[in-house]
Amino acid sequence: MLSIEKLTRTFGQNTAVDKVSFTVEKPAMIGIIGRSGAGKSTLLRMINRLTDATSGRILFEGRDVTALKGGDKRAWQSDCAMIFQQFNLVPRMDVVSNVLHGTLNRRSTLATMFNLYPDADIHRAIEILDRLGIADHAPKRAEALSGGQQQRVAIARALMQDPRIVLADEPIASLDPMNAQLVMDDLRRIHEEDGRTVIANLHTLDTARRYCDRVIGMLHGRVVFDGTPAQLTTGVARDIYGADASFSEDSTSTSIETLDRNTARALREAEAAI
Ligand SMILES: Nc1ncnc2c1ncn2[C@@H]1O[C@H](COP(=O)(O)OP(=O)(O)OP(=O)(O)O)[C@@H](O)[C@H]1O
Ligand SMILES: [Mg+2]
Repeated sequence: MLSIEKLTRTFGQNTAVDKVSFTVEKPAMIGIIGRSGAGKSTLLRMINRLTDATSGRILFEGRDVTALKGGDKRAWQSDCAMIFQQFNLVPRMDVVSNVLHGTLNRRSTLATMFNLYPDADIHRAIEILDRLGIADHAPKRAEALSGGQQQRVAIARALMQDPRIVLADEPIASLDPMNAQLVMDDLRRIHEEDGRTVIANLHTLDTARRYCDRVIGMLHGRVVFDGTPAQLTTGVARDIYGADASFSEDSTSTSIETLDRNTARALREAEAAI
């Protein structure tokens, strides 16, 4: 389905992504991990064609998307919607209009200028917001929502494009543990229920382990691990993060599992009190 072949990007002397190759045979949920500067964002941006590759190819169903231009390139960018750490919404615009922005790639400039959206699109936007549990916020300005809600609006905007692939660059890095969990649950559902491929850069190991079927580890622009969460042992993780013997998994951990532990403890304490 998706095949990345020796994809490389250099910035001056610096090789940000170095001959990265991997294939995705069928819809999957993939986590990309690695320390800061490993090349994770550059890789996702190349797949989405936000950044041009220096060399190498990206094939999707046999078509070379690295070579696409103009309308074909925009169509591809709709097919692989991108979600960012900072949501990238228009803060002063209402939630529905932000979601409808997801249809921009296939609308005329004139219609966009006058904010003319077909009724069918508006209904679909509301349906998607409803599915993500935030339809009540539809008329509000995006900036009035919490971070977790804003990220769900960004997911809704991505779904509006009906993408085959969802690329998420650190989607939960700015969120508290509870919202992080909600957003990861949504991404997982989008994969499982809709059969979309989700590729997410994640800054924590435990999230990658918990939500992804496959984890790709990057170090200095290269893929140094590609396997299942079960194969991702502490020793392998230490290699990916390039850490020394003092490496501890906790340092790469969000508090999602800590939260679960705390919830479990609170429940035990509540039981004991009865
Ligand atoms: N536009 C750019 N111009 C110059 N260098 C860049 C540019 N974008 C990325 N780089 C460099 O490429 C390398 C990889 O950066 P990238 O942002 O892909 O890493 P990352 O794994 O996403 O890191 P982080 O976890 O901090 O987000 C870094 O050395 C970075 O400085
Ligand atoms: Mg990054």
